[in-house]
Amino acid sequence: MKKADVVHLILGDRRRVPARHLSGKAFAPSNIALCKYWGKREQELNLPVTSSLSISLGDQGASAVLTIHDRAHDEIVLNGKSVDVSAPFSQRLSHFLNLFRLNPTQRFSIFIETNVPIAAGLASSACGFASIVKALDALFGWELSNKELSILARLGSGSASRSIWQGFVEWHRGLRDDGMDCFAEAIPDVWADLRIGLLILSAKEKGLASREAMQRTVTNGSLYSAWPAKVSSDLFLLKQAIADRDFQTLGKTAESNALAMHATMLSAWPPIQYAIPETLLTMQKVWALREQGLPLYFTQDAGPNLKLLFCKQDVEQVVSHFPEVKVVDPFVA
Ligand code: DP6
Repeated sequence: MKKADVVHLILGDRRRVPARHLSGKAFAPSNIALCKYWGKREQELNLPVTSSLSISLGDQGASAVLTIHDRAHDEIVLNGKSVDVSAPFSQRLSHFLNLFRLNPTQRFSIFIETNVPIAAGLASSACGFASIVKALDALFGWELSNKELSILARLGSGSASRSIWQGFVEWHRGLRDDGMDCFAEAIPDVWADLRIGLLILSAKEKGLASREAMQRTVTNGSLYSAWPAKVSSDLFLLKQAIADRDFQTLGKTAESNALAMHATMLSAWPPIQYAIPETLLTMQKVWALREQGLPLYFTQDAGPNLKLLFCKQDVEQVVSHFPEVKVVDPFVA
């Protein structure tokens, strides 16, 4: 099954209907996985080996504005700067937009503004693709459900399926080959005291794209076979912790899950390591502060930066130890 077949399944006859508006505008939040998506069972549709669970970052994410024109290329402007058509980012986006053009000559102007650092492991491709899918829905007037938008966003990037929603989000692995049961859904709990700290340790673009890293891990990571069982037990613990507002279990499970994901990468060949010396020093600092009684945990994605997990009453202490941290209240949109 191809991506275009999935688009046909979801849009049906709506795929042939011209845009209802002159432009489509939408925002999608960035999301941080507490139980990671690491590995695909099917590459074309980004169908994951396991389910995953994330928290969206409220007002931190991407806004996209789409319009239609007939020039030779799509025009992509990212944070006020025009992106060259030959850049990998443009290629990936135009390739994705091919799925939605009314005719082969139709081109889009895409203006994306983000308030999260690009390609620094802060899940900007997730909020980028999710905002574009939502902006397409607004432009064409499809009026799709969030479940359908989540499936379309997944075709751009797996983790984008979760950025359709705010709050806690579970992305269901699904069993079907066409992925129609593989979508993200919100977990309705609101945990107003929870805080996320974004710690940029290096703003450089990551070396190895998560897509390649994940595939190499699945193909030859000697520890990867233990990953699905780790995810099942972590998903269970996280859902229970969310229901009980049990911060220690939430933090411990998220941190352990991230470390286990990175262990699967170290077991691949050639080995994959996203940590830089500052990453390891910061992890040790978090562990030392925890020893001293501060309830503070971290998670790490496919990059050197860390995201801290803590509660509202500890914001001052966390900021005093990490003055450069950006504190996000995930439940304020
Ligand atoms: C480490 O969603 O970027 O952030 O589906 O290939 O586009 P593709 O991968 P992507 O991978 C995200 C990996 C992660 C973990 C997570 O967000 O769950």
